[in-house]
Parts: sequence; C-alpha cells; structure tokens
Amino acid sequence: MSPPTQTRQWILTNPPSSLPVLTGDNPTFTLRTKDLPPLTDGQLLVKLLYLSNDPAQRGWIAAGINPKRLYVPPIKQGTVMHARGLAEVVESKSDKFKKGDIVTASTGWSEYTILDAKTVQPAPKLPGGLARTHYLGALGFTGLTAYCGTTIVGEAKAEDTVVVSGAAGATGSMVIQIAKKILGCKRVVGIAGGKEKCKWVEEYLGADRCVDYKSESFHKDLKEATRVSEEKEYVDVFFDNVGGEILDFMLGRMAKHGRVVACGAISAYNSREPLKLAHYSDVISMRIQIRGFIVMDFMDKAGEVVGIFKKAISEGKLKVGEENEHVVEAGFEEVPKVWMKLFEGANTGKLITKIKG
Ligand SMILES: NC(=O)c1ccc[n+]([C@@H]2O[C@H](COP(=O)([O-])OP(=O)(O)OC[C@H]3O[C@@H](n4cnc5c(N)ncnc54)[C@H](OP(=O)(O)O)[C@@H]3O)[C@@H](O)[C@H]2O)c1
Repeated sequence: MSPPTQTRQWILTNPPSSLPVLTGDNPTFTLRTKDLPPLTDGQLLVKLLYLSNDPAQRGWIAAGINPKRLYVPPIKQGTVMHARGLAEVVESKSDKFKKGDIVTASTGWSEYTILDAKTVQPAPKLPGGLARTHYLGALGFTGLTAYCGTTIVGEAKAEDTVVVSGAAGATGSMVIQIAKKILGCKRVVGIAGGKEKCKWVEEYLGADRCVDYKSESFHKDLKEATRVSEEKEYVDVFFDNVGGEILDFMLGRMAKHGRVVACGAISAYNSREPLKLAHYSDVISMRIQIRGFIVMDFMDKAGEVVGIFKKAISEGKLKVGEENEHVVEAGFEEVPKVWMKLFEGANTGKLITKIKG
C-alpha cells in the first residue's frame, strides 16, 4: 500500500479563556484535511497510534497568554494542536528508522505527521509484556515529573509525611508509589476526587490514606490522615498537582520548613477566578518553601530514572501495568473530546487515547 498523501489534523481555531468549547460556531478546535508533501532526506512519515493527554496542553492554547511567561512557545491560532504520541513509521528517508518501527514523538493531533528523524525517539518492546503506551506515562515524562518532583524538588525523605493532590491521576499515582515504596516515607496521604479513586490509591498504590476532596468532611479527614502523633501532625512535603483551594488549605497544614512541590494547578486551568490564599501568612511564619519546576529541567535524568523504575518494578516496589492507564479507544474525530476527560476527572492513572483503525 502506498503512503497517504493527505492527513486529518485538529487545528486550534479559537484559543479559550475558560473551558474549551467543542461544538457550535466558534469551537476551540477544528478538524481539517491537509496535503502531505513528499519526504526529504532525514524525514519520516509516521501514523499516530496512541496519544498522550496532558493538562499542560491547556496552558499552551490559553487566550491572551504572554509567551515570555510560558516555558514553551504557545500554540499559534490556525496551527495543529501539540501533543506527544506513540506512532508507527510508514515511510522513512532516514537510516535511523525503518518502516514498521514504533516511536514516540511530538506528533500533535494529526493522523499522519512528517517528522525530522532527529526529533523522534525509538519505542522498543518493553519486558514482561508491558504495553508500549507506558512510554507516554510511567516510563516517559509523567514518571520523570513524579520522580524528580518528589526527590529533587521536594527532597522527600524516609521520616517525612508526604501529601499528594491529584493522587489518582497520572503523575500523582506515580508520586504516591515513589514516596511510599521507593523512598519509604513514613506517612503518605493522597487527595483524590471520590471514594472509588481513594480506595484505589490506598489499596493498589499503597498510600497510608487517601482523602476525598469532594466530601464534606475533607478538611477534618485530611487533618486526621496526616496526624502521626501529638507532636507530629503537620506535613513535610506537599506534592501539588491541583492548586486552588486545596493548595490554600495545605499551606495551613505545612510543618515548619515544609516544601510545597508546585507541579500543577489543574483546578485553575479553565477558570478566570483569581486565587485567594487565606493561609499565605503561614508561608512566612512556618518558613514554607513553594518550589515550582518544569519536567524539562530534568531531561538529563531521564535514563537514570527509567533505570530506577525498572529496578523498582523487578523488586515489587513499583506497579506499572494496565491499572496505571486509562485507555480510551476513539476515532480521530473524537480526539478533543477524550482530552477533555482530564478536566472531568474521568481518568484513573494516565489518560491515553487509542486511535481507532
Ligand atoms: N511541572 C511539570 O513539569 C508538570 C509535568 C506534568 C504534569 N504537570 C501537572 O501535573 C498535574 C497532573 O497532571 P497529569 O498529567 O498527571 O494529569 P492527571 O492528574 O491525570 O489529570 C487529570 C486529573 O486531575 C483532576 N482534576 C481535574 N480537574 C480538577 C479540578 N478542577 N480540581 C481538582 N482536581 C481536578 C482529576 O482527578 P480527581 O478525580 O481526583 O479530581 C483528573 O482525573 C497537572 O496540573 C499538570 O499540569 C506538571
């Protein structure tokens, strides 16, 4: 079969200032068909198999964003939505990859993509029958974020009480396991939305407790969950994926010299409401450090971290498998709809789109 000469792509047509809109006259994204030019030397044509769904993508398309305050150039109106994907090489003009190879790359929301082979990473078969989609999650940027955020940014140690928001999500579910099983932290408490997710965080991931932030008794439950003794009731490390009211509450629960790992703030990504920090003065009185970071700061650690994870998997300290992923099989025309599930709390573990056909 000869390679395709056209591809469908999802284009950013209307940068959102609140929740992205998928229907109506002025949708955030529009599906278009584009001609594919012939390959030149050093290029590959790849077919998209799986897409990584990341809350960060929402920041890259925000209306009125100041590019100087973003860590990557924002996506321009009228261009393809950026995303990482797992793809198959269908044509190659590079000696680095051949037809049939499976790779990870910045494919974007495009069924077929022409890529410079230098920007593409091989995705060889994983041992133990582990699905290659984990290159987009636990064994990719998600795992690197979780490990470096916990160990380098948060400096979590065995004697620490660690709290993780978004604990049932892609990053949070790795942080819980790293803190509890790899670092052996004394008390590890998750925060997640709903009883079922909390049960999974405790029973499958091994958290000492997980607290439902949607429950009326959330504040009381969290105080109880983090209480180790009369003397030790505050939190040393808070790994925050959510921001907003949960961050504010946690500032009031940090121990003296506690570290807040500012990884994400998904509760605010679709909102224009200013964040009120009632507990800001605790930052001063308790000498709390709020440490922001971006996973790209730690790219040089990627190989080392995958090695640590492989060893931890073989020792039974880290679970990476079907349970860590929420794979949704969907037609290419449903790609934005699946991505929006991130903001509905539909996923447990990493949200992956499997492209039908
Ligand atoms: N700094 C970095 O380099 C870096 C790298 C990767 C990710 N991040 C950030 O880390 C966070 C987690 O990313 P991820 O990829 O692991 O995705 P994820 O946690 O799987 O994100 C989806 C989950 O977020 C929660 N959520 C959605 N809307 C929420 C809201 N309004 N309030 C509270 N929770 C909400 C939901 O869980 P519940 O059902 O529990 O609400 C949902 O299942 C994001 O903020 C992301 O931007 C940062």
